[in-house]
Amino acid sequence: MRRITRRSLLRMVPGAVVLLLGACAPGAATQPAAPVGTAQEDPAAAVEPGQGAVLSIGGKKVAVFRDEAGNVTRLSPKCPHQGCEVGWNAKDKVWECPCHGSRFSPSGERLAGPASKGLDPAS
Ligand code: FES
Repeated sequence: MRRITRRSLLRMVPGAVVLLLGACAPGAATQPAAPVGTAQEDPAAAVEPGQGAVLSIGGKKVAVFRDEAGNVTRLSPKCPHQGCEVGWNAKDKVWECPCHGSRFSPSGERLAGPASKGLDPAS
């Protein structure tokens, strides 16, 4: 059986030397982690000022509105009338229910329609 010495091992894998030295270098354990991309960003960041959108956040639908100052309102998109999902009307800047026409302000107050109250805050 052939014996593997340290020298023969280093000849076979010179890159291992670089990796080992790098792992032992001072400060190697304190290097910041590489950026992980946009997966951890808040999906609401994609909503333009003065606009709204129904987004899927953490597996839940959320009606998100961003005002001109950048403040974000998160609401349940479930219409309080019979539970249809509201959508954002960009022209009129209101939430609208496609089922029976209830309308809600960007911050969720009832404006018109058969709904008897406004949109609930997102849970
Ligand atoms: S379900 Fe929205 S108005 Fe009826």
